[in-house]
Amino acid sequence: MRDAKIHASGVTQETAASARGELFSEERSAEVVAASFEDTPPPRLRQLLTSLVRHLHAFVKDVELTEQEWAVAINFLTRTGQMCTDVRQEFILLSDVLGVSMLVETINHRTGGTSTESTVLGPFHMVDSPKRELGDNINLDAKGTPCLVAGQVTGPDGEPLAGAVVDVWQANEDGFYDVQQPDIQPPGNLRGLFIADAAGRFWFRSVVPRYYPIPDDGPVGQLLAATGRHPNRPAHLHFIVTAPGYRPVTTHVFVADSTYLDSDAVFGVKESLVRDVPEVDDPARATEVGLANPFRALTFDLTLLRADQAPPAAQPAEVQPTVVRGAPS
Ligand code: BEZ
Ligand code: FE
Repeated sequence: MRDAKIHASGVTQETAASARGELFSEERSAEVVAASFEDTPPPRLRQLLTSLVRHLHAFVKDVELTEQEWAVAINFLTRTGQMCTDVRQEFILLSDVLGVSMLVETINHRTGGTSTESTVLGPFHMVDSPKRELGDNINLDAKGTPCLVAGQVTGPDGEPLAGAVVDVWQANEDGFYDVQQPDIQPPGNLRGLFIADAAGRFWFRSVVPRYYPIPDDGPVGQLLAATGRHPNRPAHLHFIVTAPGYRPVTTHVFVADSTYLDSDAVFGVKESLVRDVPEVDDPARATEVGLANPFRALTFDLTLLRADQAPPAAQPAEVQPTVVRGAPS
């Protein structure tokens, strides 16, 4: 007697005896294939493969996948792999536009509203970001609308994190990173590694970034075009902030009036990360900070969880059961 129940994922799960040795059938395909992984030694790998098979088979049954559609999908994945090089990761881009990167990021960096939320890393981070002094101008080619960026890094009780490392990078006013325009922008333009002062404060001079398209000249771009989606990300600055004894945060600050704020191609926007970037028209202040008047000003404070703090529990959403065609009841 098989006992089927609806799992939290909404997919019907068998709790019955193993399907090992059972011949393949449309009705029991997932159970038969899952049983082939029953002896997988690492329990986590067994769990991952069993769940993957269940969901994959449920999908194929749900849409009654045709052979032609299956061939198109295989061809798409093949081309996605062929597009990958040392500097281009088309599979991560695919994960990004499907919202999987953001989901993995969010699940693994829950904040419970107590610390700065994270978002995707993206492909334009440099492992060896150029070291800068507080107040430096990272806008090496002096193009664009000047912007003073400042903030404070604190722990969960408001304690300032002196010496926190603040790694920043951003696109220029035309929507390009330095690595995308090696013949136009100076190397290291609009990026830098800062050390926060004794009060956890950092500040530097830069420009207001512009929205830009993710790389869309490959299979992922074709997917976006075929589905009527645009490839753009709203204007943002990237941050990775670390401090000994605290959980690092990889995040962005988004410019509040940017185009595409409500339709980021990679779903990276979180409301808590959006900031106004007002114009400051104050010649004395401009002279003080070393920018032309008027300039724009962006304040972004970050709070890091302590490394030994338990990650906050998940906030379970209402799960709607998925109807699995052909599943036993
Ligand atoms: C970025 O913000 O740099 C980015 C993120 C995901 C995909 C492409 C670019
Ligand atoms: Fe970016």
